Amino acid sequence: MSDILTIADLKDLARRRVPKMFFDYADSGAWTESTYRANEEDFQKIKFRQRVLVDMSNRSLESTMIGEKVAMPVALAPTGLTGMQHADGEMLAAQAAEEFGVPFTLSTMSICSIEDVASVTKKPFWFQLYVLRDKDFVLDLIDRAKAAKCSALVLTLDLQILGQRHKDVRNGLSAPPKMTLANIANIAMRPRWLMGIAGTKRRTFRNIVGHAKGVGDVSSLGSWTNEQFDPQLSWNDVAWIKERWGGKLILKGILDKEDALMAVKTGADAIVVSNHGGRQLDGASSSIMALEEIADAVGDKIEVHMDGGIRSGQDVLKALCLGAKGTYIGRPFLYGLGAMGKEGVTLALEIIRKEMDITLALCGKRLVTDMGKDQLRR
Ligand SMILES: Cc1cc2nc3c(=O)[nH]c(=O)nc-3n(C[C@H](O)[C@H](O)[C@H](O)COP(=O)(O)O)c2cc1C
Repeated sequence: MSDILTIADLKDLARRRVPKMFFDYADSGAWTESTYRANEEDFQKIKFRQRVLVDMSNRSLESTMIGEKVAMPVALAPTGLTGMQHADGEMLAAQAAEEFGVPFTLSTMSICSIEDVASVTKKPFWFQLYVLRDKDFVLDLIDRAKAAKCSALVLTLDLQILGQRHKDVRNGLSAPPKMTLANIANIAMRPRWLMGIAGTKRRTFRNIVGHAKGVGDVSSLGSWTNEQFDPQLSWNDVAWIKERWGGKLILKGILDKEDALMAVKTGADAIVVSNHGGRQLDGASSSIMALEEIADAVGDKIEVHMDGGIRSGQDVLKALCLGAKGTYIGRPFLYGLGAMGKEGVTLALEIIRKEMDITLALCGKRLVTDMGKDQLRR
């Protein structure tokens, strides 16, 4: 696929290959989608300093995230229903990330289970936890992640109440999709996707079904999710989760410096500056615009990661310049997966790697870890 040069190219192909309901689920933000758009657009406002006549040989993108060596500081973000973008999507994306040398984060709301992903990977992956009212189920999820040797728990803080994404309501999103006339017509045009899904047993939320009480039947799952996310979650809860988990803890969904300072007090290992890809509080700041103030406020008291709107290697470098030690991509890898399966996830990572490498050189740097505020024109 030599004509695929950018993440936008992968998006175009995914649009053609993934049923509308699931493509839209990825390509949507809350309400007016203003924060979703700002996440991408605000990167364009940041400019690099171009430097010349600097030795640019022997460049390296290697770094660390929470002490783990990474081929480049770009992890795969936790995304729900990934196994609906492509059959066995979480397993394929985890394998692509492992081979590439970057972390993969499995969502609580995944199609493939923790155990499914563990069965096809050799290195530890990260697990993202949503806190539900059913505390026994939450404890069990933590224990299952431990048993699968996950090396970090990513606790998501910004989705105790679901932001409304109009497209999902209009499309009647469900996994597996309901066989309405519109869905049948749409899926019939995507035979490759259909054959994949027909050929796997993994078509529903396998972390949940069969594990959480009262969820034997998928059709009850949508309402179950709405009822089950715990709206009373507070800073005090981080302590028992941290204690039960006992390993590296990352707090995801921080967009305000006061909250970042609270996060430091919990003793967590890292925070992710994130607005959930613009899917929750429409009208919130873009992640990249919130990053610098937060990174400055916490200093080196906690590792700072960011996600939201990264569509190129240049975007990754801008985030690093503004204080992130690591970044995550959500939609870029989902588009790769929907377009071309595992190969597409690898291609998304390769596109970003190449863009990072060339940009690094043209900024006059050899090590990605050397990128800082002085590399930006302001
Ligand atoms: C389709 C989709 C599903 C998502 N599901 C989850 C999830 O289950 N848990 C979570 O913590 N974040 C979830 N997110 C948010 C991502 O982890 C991440 O914050 C966001 O995608 C980053 O923005 P980007 O897609 O512009 O890279 C989801 C994002 C998308 C696009």
